[in-house]
Amino acid sequence: MITIENLSKSFESGGKKIWAVKDVNIHINKGEIFGIIGLSGAGKSTLIRCLNRLEEPTEGKITIDGVNITNLNKKELRSVRKDIGMIFQHFNLLSQKTVYENIAFPLELDGSNKNEIDSRVNTLLEYVELVDKRDAYPSSLSGGQKQRVAIARALANNPKILLSDEGTSALDPKTTKSILELLNRIRKEFGLTIVLITHQMEVVKDICDKVAIIENGEIIETNTALELFRNPKTKTAKTFISSLKSNVDEESIIPEQFDGKVIRLSFLGNSAREPIVSKMINQFNIEVNILSGNINELISTCVGYLILELSGEDEEVAKAIDYLKNQNVNVEVI
Ligand SMILES: Nc1ncnc2c1ncn2[C@@H]1O[C@H](COP(=O)(O)OP(=O)(O)OP(=O)(O)O)[C@@H](O)[C@H]1O
Ligand SMILES: [Mg+2]
Repeated sequence: MITIENLSKSFESGGKKIWAVKDVNIHINKGEIFGIIGLSGAGKSTLIRCLNRLEEPTEGKITIDGVNITNLNKKELRSVRKDIGMIFQHFNLLSQKTVYENIAFPLELDGSNKNEIDSRVNTLLEYVELVDKRDAYPSSLSGGQKQRVAIARALANNPKILLSDEGTSALDPKTTKSILELLNRIRKEFGLTIVLITHQMEVVKDICDKVAIIENGEIIETNTALELFRNPKTKTAKTFISSLKSNVDEESIIPEQFDGKVIRLSFLGNSAREPIVSKMINQFNIEVNILSGNINELISTCVGYLILELSGEDEEVAKAIDYLKNQNVNVEVI
């Protein structure tokens, strides 16, 4: 659906060249919710804005539905842009226009007639549950309501792709959840592909199928959300995961400080709920100390990890590790 190849973008600033995006390669499938996570200044907005050429790439190629959009002229670009809706952190609604008029605006630009506009806007208002705010102005709406209007507006032209640049960053946790639920419903019901930029791991956990981590303009890790939580490779990924409220910082565990063997187990789906550890304690003559652990519920399944210290005779410890390896859990001695 979307292929980004060797994409780079530089800016000139004070006579200096800054590479905001460096040699990025990403493939996004149809119907996927693809998250791009990174810290402030990592290049997230620049990258996502290249996808609809709000920002002109310096180098590289972006293919959407088989069309190389980096080569399009203005007219061709306008038609491709109808297929790409976008929402922003600060909603970007027109303050002088009512909710109805904001949603109608892209349809007017597209030359739809009054009846078509009326029927489409009313359908969208029902979809985002804002029928009663039809004639309200943005200033009288809550953040969540404003983002619902922005989503309805982004959907007005029936796009195939929705881009979200920190679409939930200005919202409280409960409102964030409700907006993410709405995005997931849109993906399911309309088969939209959603590219979502965020600096919050919560968002990745709640909604993303796949995720890329961007740092200093470069993608340093890409994986399914599941594998990323199960087996983060880079320090940045680990830090993002431990930023989730319920997590203990895994990085703070130094195996050398323990007498026993320190192991990291990662579980997937139902095995996360099975009492594997208590069975192991019963079967082998070892002592087990739990150093850290967590279960995260992702959109598709749940993943968990547990860091344990195993003490006892070497042979018993080795047998216990073998036992774990046969239980559908990933075991890593750290
Ligand atoms: N128009 C511009 N001119 C010069 N430099 C820019 C411009 N836009 C972005 N940059 C620089 O490019 C880098 C990446 O910026 P970008 O806005 O893409 O980051 P971001 O990951 O979206 O950050 P945030 O989370 O704060 O929104 C930064 O160093 C920024 O200063
Ligand atoms: Mg940004």
